[in-house]
Amino acid sequence: MAIRSSITKTFGILTAGGDCPGLNAAIRGVCRAAHDRYGMNIIGIANGFRGLIEENTRALRPVDFSGILTRGGTILGASREKPFKPGNDPGEIVGEKVAAVKDTYRKLGLDCLVVLGGNGTNTTGYKLTREGLNVIGLPKTIDNDIVGTDRTFGFHSALAIGTEAIDRLHSTAQSHNRVIVIELMGHKAGWLALYAGVAGGGDIILIPEIPYDIKAIGRHLEERAKTGKAYSIVVVAEGALSVAESEMEKKDRKKYRAENGPSVAYRVAREIEEETGMETRATVLGYMQRGGIPSASDRVLATSLGTAAADLLAKGEYGRMVALLGNNIGSVDLSVPEGKVKTVPEDHHMIDTAVAVGTCMGV
Ligand code: F6P
Repeated sequence: MAIRSSITKTFGILTAGGDCPGLNAAIRGVCRAAHDRYGMNIIGIANGFRGLIEENTRALRPVDFSGILTRGGTILGASREKPFKPGNDPGEIVGEKVAAVKDTYRKLGLDCLVVLGGNGTNTTGYKLTREGLNVIGLPKTIDNDIVGTDRTFGFHSALAIGTEAIDRLHSTAQSHNRVIVIELMGHKAGWLALYAGVAGGGDIILIPEIPYDIKAIGRHLEERAKTGKAYSIVVVAEGALSVAESEMEKKDRKKYRAENGPSVAYRVAREIEEETGMETRATVLGYMQRGGIPSASDRVLATSLGTAAADLLAKGEYGRMVALLGNNIGSVDLSVPEGKVKTVPEDHHMIDTAVAVGTCMGV
């Protein structure tokens, strides 16, 4: 393959925030295209922004990004280090971390930094552009909550895992005539619970965007019982909350939650038992949703976004986040996702779909 001309000669690549299936496919996409098509030099940065602060980096060669398409996790390692945010260390000075990031960037002779991450990572990336660095973002997260892209990679794989879990819970709930509450990830946005709930035929779906009323949940479960369905599946996003919680001050809500079980699934299960007297169990799927091999769809999306990022690097189009826009791969300004969370709009067609097939959304 003839090497094409490229404005970017050397770039760094890192993965930050929670991991997700498809990260390695995206790394491979960026690196293969950047190396094979454009002849760029690649520096892998370990453990997200921490690797830049601690100068933990290494040159990546084709052997490093070969054979990783199907692997879960990230070969670079990840962390939730946010150089612009103070951590827990006493006396920690934020400016020093940002200075260390900039220092490493210059020492390595980078023309650009490619950051693979969620809202926090792309926001940090944008802030770094304001500090004078060149940055390109790639949107990843199982939460699917990044503004500027129609979908993030990781979501499709987690959706399949969540759906399979709901399928499996159906048979045991039915055998025992129980209500089973399953908690899926999604702190601020309910995409995963909503889509997995629809795909798995959840009877009730609770998402952070729609505070739930336990009375409405109780009525729905009792109606089902009257029609001979003495079991039910309740799919709940980890950030779902009751109407009462939604009206509390943040600190009161925190206290209430600390006193009422380890997470929302347990709170909802207890409330259902108190409201209806039905035997109820809670299951938290947790990190299962982020682990393991990416789905075919996530591999395709991650690879396409990765190669698109390499094209931006070659053209010197910095300060962008590559994105799925309809059926096309494009890019948006890195300021677009900055500091935002894409939540489920009240009038989203999937909410209407769920309700149309008889699912209760908690109200
Ligand atoms: O990656 C996003 C996410 O999966 C959220 O849904 C969840 O709140 C969070 O990660 C938990 O991750 P960690 O425990 O790694 O911070």
